[in-house]
Amino acid sequence: MRSRREFGNLGAPMPLDRRTFLRASAATLPLIAGCAPLVALRPSTAPFLHGVASGDPLADRVILWTRVTPESGTAEGEVRWRMALDPQFERVVASGEAVAAADRDYTVKVDAVGLAPDTTYYYRFEANGASSPIGRTRTLPVGPTPRLRLGFCSCSNYAWGWFNAYARLAERTELAAVLHLGDYIYEYAESSSRSDIVRVPAPYREVVRLADYRARHAEYRLDADLQEMHRQHPVIALWDDHELANNAWRGGAQNHQPDEGSWRARRAAAVRAYLEWLPVRESQGRYYRHFRFGDLADLWMLETRLRRDKQVADRNDSVAFRRGDRRLLGPVQERWLLDGITRSARDGTAWRVFGQQVVFAPLPADGGRVRNPDSWDGYPRTRERIFDLWERRGIADNVVLTGDVHSSWAMEVPRDPRDRHAYDPATGRGALAVEFVTPGISSPGPVLPAGADRAVRRVLDENPNVRWVEFTGRGYALLDVDRERVQSDWFHVDTVQEPSRGERFVAGYRARRGSGQLEPVDAPSEPPRDAPEPAP
Ligand SMILES: [Fe+2]
Repeated sequence: MRSRREFGNLGAPMPLDRRTFLRASAATLPLIAGCAPLVALRPSTAPFLHGVASGDPLADRVILWTRVTPESGTAEGEVRWRMALDPQFERVVASGEAVAAADRDYTVKVDAVGLAPDTTYYYRFEANGASSPIGRTRTLPVGPTPRLRLGFCSCSNYAWGWFNAYARLAERTELAAVLHLGDYIYEYAESSSRSDIVRVPAPYREVVRLADYRARHAEYRLDADLQEMHRQHPVIALWDDHELANNAWRGGAQNHQPDEGSWRARRAAAVRAYLEWLPVRESQGRYYRHFRFGDLADLWMLETRLRRDKQVADRNDSVAFRRGDRRLLGPVQERWLLDGITRSARDGTAWRVFGQQVVFAPLPADGGRVRNPDSWDGYPRTRERIFDLWERRGIADNVVLTGDVHSSWAMEVPRDPRDRHAYDPATGRGALAVEFVTPGISSPGPVLPAGADRAVRRVLDENPNVRWVEFTGRGYALLDVDRERVQSDWFHVDTVQEPSRGERFVAGYRARRGSGQLEPVDAPSEPPRDAPEPAP
């Protein structure tokens, strides 16, 4: 069986056949569990087995999260939380109580309000006479803001590798937040019979129902590296497809079959479990969100699964892609985004950053083929309306952040990369945005039958707007923003086959303000010197 998609699709790994998995896994699961190497980080202790997290920071509030694993039965538990300006909790500024209840799978989510902007806080929970690990978080700045530094990542497949990249992100104490661009969990039943699977997550089947999704989140969140990333940074996260099912769209998913029940029920279960387990602010079914980093940057986190039209099935059918108004965001979110972009430009905010899931830049292949019908290339009208707004209003300094394709890319974003009148790759003239694609935390890159070097050459030859691409490394990226330029730095870990501390800087690209041209840099951007203390 082919284990991953061949290059040309650039999507996520193929699902395994369920029956193959069941046959293969029964004999080998205990062996895999017994062989797992020890992780370096300390796991959390009861009742806070899944650690702590924070997320969706605003200037005056932030979401705090934990789970209180019940000792027995289904009893509700009371939880106290405290927030302080110092890790010793001598200057407590906020506190309160919450309940861990069965109807939210014993997860606890608090919106801690009344906070000061651009401030680091430490927090902890108490329940059953025990204290949780101490978490660290930070609010957003207001007004004049000279600099912003974010981590961004995606595609953390538990079965396909250790979360070493999460541990490296956790160590970067200077980050304002980490963006998770989706595929935080994978729904698949993974087969332990394959040599490239390093650990098999519970439950040992494809996740379909609420109890399954909850169990899968719980399993991932026992990972010490993932816990540490959450403990040290506020996370701004939104799902891609695998938090639901592969190649999800509003009416179904490639990996949803009729014998798995209704898509509506499965989607509701997946979304519910995600909201229970992630530190996301919940606002009446509007999962897309906006964050403002003073006068330096606006960030939109886009939702590209629940409202999108179905993917075109045949990627050679170039007519199908142009036919009709195939929507990726849905009309309400699209209006919200376009209005937000207009307002951001009118306010004079320096940069517009789009945190989203699938590749945005046009990447036409020879013969009008669409490489990846699941990306924005599959929804050209939606993208054209964004291009139209940027062009009509002369709105520059747009930065798209992307996950999904398990590979690293730096791209200029012209309307049509092959229209040499409208776009000049030598100068970047005609590029309306830049796009930075983060590799998988652990998910494997595409299969490249002719080899990675040839695949890279082919992409660069066919797509003059692609400045850099790397297909095999796993890791994460940083976004460093100031008033003059934006820079993305890519870091790849040395392995995901075992816990390891090794990482290396593999590339950096920057765009100066007012220009859509990307330039390579020799060294990663310097972290600021005044990083706040990590949570102890
Ligand atoms: Fe993925």
